[in-house]
Amino acid sequence: MIILGIESSCDETGVAIYDENNGIIANVLHSQIKIHARYGGVVPELASRDHVRRTVPLVREALKIAGIEGQQLDAVAYTAGPGLIGALLVGASVARALAYAWNCPAVPVHHMEGHLLAPMLEDPAPEFPFVALLISGGHTQLIEVTGVGQYQLLGESVDDAAGEAFDKTAKLLGLGYPGGPALADCAKKGRPDIYRFPRPMTNRPGLDFSFSGLKTFAANTIRESDASEQAYADIAHAFQEAVSDTLAIKCRRAITQTGLTSLVVAGGVSANTRIRQRLGELLTDIGGKVYYPRPAYCTDNGAMIAYAGYLRFKAGETSDLSIQARPRWPLTELNAARSD
Ligand code: KG4
Ligand code: ZN
Repeated sequence: MIILGIESSCDETGVAIYDENNGIIANVLHSQIKIHARYGGVVPELASRDHVRRTVPLVREALKIAGIEGQQLDAVAYTAGPGLIGALLVGASVARALAYAWNCPAVPVHHMEGHLLAPMLEDPAPEFPFVALLISGGHTQLIEVTGVGQYQLLGESVDDAAGEAFDKTAKLLGLGYPGGPALADCAKKGRPDIYRFPRPMTNRPGLDFSFSGLKTFAANTIRESDASEQAYADIAHAFQEAVSDTLAIKCRRAITQTGLTSLVVAGGVSANTRIRQRLGELLTDIGGKVYYPRPAYCTDNGAMIAYAGYLRFKAGETSDLSIQARPRWPLTELNAARSD
């Protein structure tokens, strides 16, 4: 079984091909960073237009890399949401049209399910059940996962997502877009224990997160600093420590509450080395194991869509001829995948 996956929910066009026997056999990506950088964030209309330019050439390239023809595909999977409506519509229309032309089914995929299942592309792959920490630009969620589509929300951000907090704080520090990797880089030069940021919502029970206060705290700390390069690096360091610590505290709670010992961490922010290190220490401490996708599968990519599409298709799920795009789509609305 061979599935093509198309991702276009935000500022990356990703196309990949998953082969049931050989895994990911093609994975190509076009990032729009250069287009949006001058605006300091994603401009939705520019994103849509670039997806229009990139999607079909990337599909051609992926087929060439895999050495197959479109007619050999068993299904075409695409990100149907959540995301920017215009951007989603481009990938969905191209995917639906290609599936029609190649006479195979189309499979709409939930973007966050793609992120969540991406660690299963690695070896060793996590086995159900596990606790998942999804940390991306738009989401911060702790989920108890018992199977494909069996997601119980344990907690989530009540305001900014972790990635959003990284991006906004990076902007305050005058770092480029996207802010996450830039802030992580700047933090390397920071000295520990110069500043201490709060660990929001950790001194009360529960598994929800709140990161918007960290951005305000950063703004105040920046204002009171001498605005030197060293001070900014120290602030970036303290911010990153606060996010890492907060995530680790909540993960420990989620693990205790569920009694599970496997933690899966996915989404763009899971590419962060310090967060990985911190969660690694936690799981070693409690005798469990933490699973991540490789960095290329942490941020948006086609591989995770091809793989989630494969799992859904294998469970008998396809769509009619409609083009599906849902900008808002809670992960918990998904149905459990049928297993035979
Ligand atoms: O999963 P993703 O590519 O897109 C969404 O689905 O949102 O996540 C993007 C987010 C951005 O906020 C970006 O700044 C953040 O992931 N990010 C990072 C790192 N790499 C990407 N945040 C912290 N450290 C990183 N190394
Ligand atoms: Zn994403």
